[in-house]
Amino acid sequence: MGKFQVMEHPLIQHKLTIIREKNCGTKVFREVVDELAMLMAYEISRDMPTENVEIETPIELSTQKTLAGKKVAIIPILRAGLGMVDGILQLIPAAKVGHVGLYRDEETLETHEYFVKMPEDIDSRQLLVVDPMLATGGSAIMAIDSLKKRGASNIKFVCIVSAPEGVKALQEAHPDIDIYTAALDDHLNEDGYIVPGLGDAGDRLFGTK
Ligand code: PRP
Ligand code: URA
Repeated sequence: MGKFQVMEHPLIQHKLTIIREKNCGTKVFREVVDELAMLMAYEISRDMPTENVEIETPIELSTQKTLAGKKVAIIPILRAGLGMVDGILQLIPAAKVGHVGLYRDEETLETHEYFVKMPEDIDSRQLLVVDPMLATGGSAIMAIDSLKKRGASNIKFVCIVSAPEGVKALQEAHPDIDIYTAALDDHLNEDGYIVPGLGDAGDRLFGTK
């Protein structure tokens, strides 16, 4: 089974509280999602492999560390995942970005795919699939199905708020992936919203509704 990690860092928890507030407006919501994504990427990158390189400092030749291992691609699930891309790119600026467009039918909660555009080499990259919300898990599962169909195998899922129902469904469907979240909330309500959650992440990010 892949890793499941709730990121308890005080800055992450503090910023999450800001965006949970219903009076947090679009501008601040967007800025703080960006900051959260950067902080989460910092935590996730803790176990990135390094290798030794010879460099020349102004004083002497020296052996120092540099990042090794697979190059990264960030895969936002549209729409709300877009809000997490720039924050991660601030730390990993060479990452490529692929897009998966999905929406949940608000009546049936079924997930529908409407757009996929990936870098050619996703099979050889470390993929960070990002979406602020993991609710029923339908979107994350379909996005990862779609990536695996295209040859991807090295996948981490990064969300800001998760529901136990979604974590369980995602772990059952894709036991090989690691899941990182800033919060594991209480439950889903009958409309498929996370409780206490933060409402509709896409609408709050983009000011729709
Ligand atoms: C939201 C959210 C996730 C999904 C989570 O997107 O951004 O993608 O719901 O729910 P699930 O775990 O039950 O699939 P939504 O479908 O509302 O689309 P949007 O981002 O375009 O608003
Ligand atoms: N999607 C959201 O944006 N919010 C939720 O609480 C559940 C799904």
